[in-house]
Formats: sequence, structure tokens, C-alpha cells
Amino acid sequence: MTSSPTSTHRTPSAERRSPFEAALREAADIAALSPSSHNCQPWGVAWPVSSGVRQAAARRVDEARGGGTSAESISDGSDGSDGSDGCDGSSRSEYVVLALDRERELTSLPAHAVEMQLSCGAYLQILLRSLALLGWSTDGIGFVEPRPGEQERGRSDFHRRLGDTWPASWSPLCAVRLRRTGPPSGALAELRRTARARVTNRAPYRTEAVEPAVLAGLRAPSAGVAEGAEVTVRHLVADSERAVFADVVARHGGRDFSHRQAWRETHSFLRRNEAEAAAQGDGFALSQLFGPMSGPRRLALRTALAPTTMRVLRYAGYHRVLARQLARVVRPTPVVVAMSFADSVPGLEATVRGGAHLAEYWMRATDAGLALHPVSVVLQHDDVRTELQDRLGLPGRTFFVSRLGRSLTEFPPSRRRIASSAVRPI
Ligand SMILES: Cc1cc2nc3c(=O)[nH]c(=O)nc-3n(C[C@H](O)[C@H](O)[C@H](O)COP(=O)(O)O)c2cc1C
Repeated sequence: MTSSPTSTHRTPSAERRSPFEAALREAADIAALSPSSHNCQPWGVAWPVSSGVRQAAARRVDEARGGGTSAESISDGSDGSDGSDGCDGSSRSEYVVLALDRERELTSLPAHAVEMQLSCGAYLQILLRSLALLGWSTDGIGFVEPRPGEQERGRSDFHRRLGDTWPASWSPLCAVRLRRTGPPSGALAELRRTARARVTNRAPYRTEAVEPAVLAGLRAPSAGVAEGAEVTVRHLVADSERAVFADVVARHGGRDFSHRQAWRETHSFLRRNEAEAAAQGDGFALSQLFGPMSGPRRLALRTALAPTTMRVLRYAGYHRVLARQLARVVRPTPVVVAMSFADSVPGLEATVRGGAHLAEYWMRATDAGLALHPVSVVLQHDDVRTELQDRLGLPGRTFFVSRLGRSLTEFPPSRRRIASSAVRPI
């Protein structure tokens, strides 16, 4: 956070809040390892330090609980005090506001709106789990569901109350209240290890079945933001189900490549090499998508995947070749996992909680030695998603579908922006 321009003008009361600032910085380091579509990392986290923003956040959490204004929001500093109820300010409530950064979001397909909220939900789950292990437990969450008329006006009432220091490109998703509950736990190191080990692995997987008990463990109820998420998890293990999935991928998996805007956007996240990926801190190097490769193959792929080449090759059916290649990797995979919302039109809260559920599931799979490789192209177009859901009897709205298994090859981790660039005191 020291790199943030606003953090250089900290007030004395902000100085006294430093135990939370240190915890937030450490938690953000771990949460930055969360998965996101195209590795676009569309999240932002505001730490309210001014009394006005703290009050707005407190009110949002209280309203979500259906109650009135809490003692915390009354002693919020609006009376001229610094609002602390302990001599070092550490025993009072702190708040964070999770945001979607509009400058970082994917927009080429309507389905990306859901993927962005899922990615932010995954980040929030790991952020709050880390904070809990650092001694700051979640005490309430208030989501910023748009109220009637707010969408047309562009900004919610809550958004307007966040003041001038709120970043212009950020849309608030929820406010979270945290309370100091104890000293940091040794389990944080374990969480950090799992977050680092969790990578998208697009390599072939071993064909042997995954034990039913392991799959049952992945479906156990989740805690944190993921708790209470109305998500149905289906593991497709029968040959007939996996054949249906591979068939849908073979027939429709080229949509992204043949969709001009979608491919242009995807291509803008492809980095020429590791050095460029490291410098940018987002997107993926070709080796992340296709595994380790020789220099000449990398060059050939770069040329073939360029939007201008793809526009021409589309007429020769190149997108269908790529779809069949993807289906060949999908077909022998022992498990396909599908996650669905109960509601066919989920709201913001359901979607963010769904993302939290996804993060929890992926971390558990990692701990069980399993890898995931999402295949979102079959969910990004309503006609394809409906066909998939109908043929497999998937309920509600399926929001995530992925290969699941034990990988034959390790995959390199993808890069991240500096974690503190997503965190701003406001
Ligand atoms: C909602 C969501 C959808 C995703 N869809 C795909 C996908 O269709 N294909 C794919 O290869 N990876 C997909 N991913 C994985 C991301 O590309 C990956 O998380 C990101 O590049 C960061 O890499 P990492 O997971 O190895 O840390 C998806 C991730 C999320 C959160």
C-alpha cells in the first residue's frame, strides 16, 4: 500500500490503525493469487479510513443485516473522535469495500459480466480467509445490489457516498466489516502454500478415475463468503456424460476464435514470452496456454493466433481445428465438474458468493492433488450453454465448467500484478 499515492497522506488515526493495514497487505498478497478470466485480475479493495466512508460502509453492512445503525457506525469518528475503542485502535471494527475495476474487466461478451463478478468473489474468499487467519474475522457483509432506478443513473447511492478519493473506474460490490478476534494463526502458511500451488493446468490428465470419496470431499459445505452460496456442484464421471461434454466442445469450442471482438480481447492478454508476462503482471504467456514449447513452435503459434491471421484462417475452418484439439484433451479427462446457480438469472450477491465457492473448491482440489482446467467457451454463448445444460440435465444457470483430474505435467504459475496496486486507503 505504500505505493498508493493516498497512503503517503495518512492521518494520525490511520497510523494507529496500522495493525490492520499490515494484515490487509499480507492478505492481499495471498488473495492476488486467485484465478480470474484471462488472468485479468479485475478486483480492487478499498480500506475506508475517512469517517464518511467508514460510516457509509458500516451502514451498508447494517442494512444488509436488516437492522438499524450499529454502535460501531455511531462511534465512527463522525463525532470528531478517531473512532477507536481500544487504546491502540486495534479492537474496533475495520471495513473493506470490494470493487470491480472497470479498467481491468473483460467486456467483449455479455457472459463476461458474470465471470468478472465470479473472479472478484474468488478473490474476496481468499482475502477474507487470510484476514481471519491473521486475526481479523468477518463480522458482516453488505452487498451493493443495484436498487430500482440506480442502474439507469449509473451509480448506486452507496457508490455516491464513497466520496472523491474513491477510484473513478471502481464499481463497489460489497462492504465487509471485520473484527479483531485474536492473534495470527500458523495455518496462514498452509493457506499461502495452497494459494501458490493452485494453478490452471491445461495439460493432459491421468485417465484413471478419481476416487468417489475425494470427489465427495470437494463438495462438502464451504465457509466464509462461500457459506450459503446456492451452488449445485455436479461431477460428470460417466463415459456417456463426458462424451456429451466432449461433443459440445468439439462442435462449439471454436466460438471464441471465430468471434472477432472476443478473440481480439483474448489476444490482448497473450504475452509474447515469460519476460513480457512478468513485466505486465497479468494475462498469460503462450507456455501457460499450451505448455512448454520450442522457439519455432512459439513463433508459429503467435502468427496463427494473431487476430488478423485468425480472421483469414477462420474461412478455412481453423477455429474448428482448434475446437477439435481442445476436445481431444477434454475427452479422456476422468471428471468434468459443473457448477450451477439455482437461479437462472442470479443477482450480484449470488454471483460473488458463487465465485467464493469456486475458489474454495479449487483450493480443496489443489490440496487433494487435483488440477482444474476450465472450459468456459461452452458457457459464454447462451445457445451453447442451453444445449449443454439440456443434454446433461444441469439445473439453473451453469456458471463454471472445468476438466478435473491428476495432471501428467506441471504447469508454470502465471504472473500477477503487485498485490498492493489493488488496495487503496480511502
Ligand atoms: C471464471 C473463470 C473462467 C475461466 N475460464 C477459463 C477458460 O475458459 N479457459 C482457460 O484455459 N482458463 C480459464 N480460466 C482460468 C484463468 O485463465 C486463470 O485463472 C488465470 O489465467 C490465472 O492463472 P492461474 O489460475 O494459473 O493462476 C478461468 C478462470 C475463471 C476464474
